[in-house]
Order: sequence, then C-alpha cells, then structure tokens
Amino acid sequence: MIELRKITGDNVDAVMALAVEENQEDFIETTNLRSFADAHMLNTEGIPASPFAIYVDEVVVGFLMYIYDTTDHESFQNEVYYGKKTYFIWHFMIDRSYQGKGYGKLAFEKMLADIETMPYGEAEYVDLFYHKSNVKAKTLYATFGFVESGIIQDNSMHAIKKLDGKITASLVG
Ligand SMILES: CC(C)(COP(=O)(O)OP(=O)(O)OC[C@H]1O[C@@H](n2cnc3c(N)ncnc32)[C@H](O)[C@@H]1OP(=O)(O)O)[C@@H](O)C(=O)NCCC(=O)NCCS
Repeated sequence: MIELRKITGDNVDAVMALAVEENQEDFIETTNLRSFADAHMLNTEGIPASPFAIYVDEVVVGFLMYIYDTTDHESFQNEVYYGKKTYFIWHFMIDRSYQGKGYGKLAFEKMLADIETMPYGEAEYVDLFYHKSNVKAKTLYATFGFVESGIIQDNSMHAIKKLDGKITASLVG
C-alpha cells in the first residue's frame, strides 16, 4: 500500500539516502536534502510547502514535495494562468531500486488527491516542470491530464492542469 507521510525523525535519514540513477540526476537538479531545506525556507517566507516521504508498506521508496503559490514568474505573464493560485510540484523522485514498479504513478495520484482537497487554500491550477528528455515523467504527467504550456526554462518543460477537482475522480476506485 502506498502512503505519503510527513518527514519526521523516524524517516528523515531514509529520505536523504534515496537516490536516482546517475543519468537521471539532471532530471531532479537538486537533492532531497536541499528540497527539504527549501520547504523550511518557503514555509518561513509564508509560502506553504509540503515535503512527503513515499512509503510502500513500511519502506521509504521516494520523496515528493509540492507548494501553494502564485504563477507570477515573468515567463508566464502572457498566459491565462498568470497571477493565479497554483499547487506547484517542486520535487518528485522514486529511488532507483524501486522504479518501474508502478509506485511513482500511485504516489503521484495520491499527491493529486491530496492537492484536490486544497489543503492550503483554493487554486485553479496544478503545475510542474520536467526535463525535456525525461520521457518517463512526461508520459506519466500526461496520463493525469497535464498539458505542456510551451514554456521552457533551463531545459525544463512547463506543464499545467486545471484543478477542477476531477483529476483523480476517474482514476481512484
Ligand atoms: C519519474 C519517476 C518518479 C516515475 O516513477 P516510477 O515508479 O519509476 O514509475 P511507474 O513505474 O509508476 O510508471 C509510471 C508511468 O511512467 C511512464 N513510464 C514508465 N516507464 C516509462 C518508459 N520507459 N518510457 C515512457 N514512459 C514510461 C508510464 O506512463 C507509466 O505508467 P504505466 O505503467 O501505467 O504506463 C521515477 O522514475 C523517478 O524518480 N525518476 C527519476 C527522477 C525524475 O525523473 N523525477 C521526475 C522529475 S520531473
């Protein structure tokens, strides 16, 4: 069974020890430790950030983090979603030894179900970036209805999905 659990003293070491394949390092650009630090800094600045350990039964297999933010980066200024509230997926990884077993998809679905409850406030969108050559991530996100916006930053493609509360309705039992 897949679960998302808060980072605590019980799982922080396991989360830090997770790793992707060497040829996937460009896909995440940062470490779980740095993302966890980012979460604390963002929360201090008043931008809610939720880092989670991904568990399969009692084993930590991955890490993800999303934040509640506004799409106000200058590259979005001609887009319809400019200035709108969004849940932005900051970090998402499954340890190399647990990839390809369906855990990433299940964890992503859990995260979207969580986001649909609007834990930090209403938002119209959920969005993310992925490296242009990350076919696996692109395919996975497209399954959930994310559409490429055409905006590219540092070799990463932006994709966005309108949050109408129905993303997981047809997917979750
Ligand atoms: C991307 C990642 C999170 C996916 O997790 P995973 O557990 O390996 O993926 P899953 O086994 O759940 O597969 C999920 C979906 O990915 C897609 N996928 C998997 N392998 C694929 C491949 N070789 N080519 C294209 N798509 C693929 C499929 O859509 C698959 O769903 P399906 O099996 O129903 O068709 C994981 O591989 C990872 O951590 N990669 C390195 C870091 C990374 O790229 N993070 C994302 C940053 S944006």
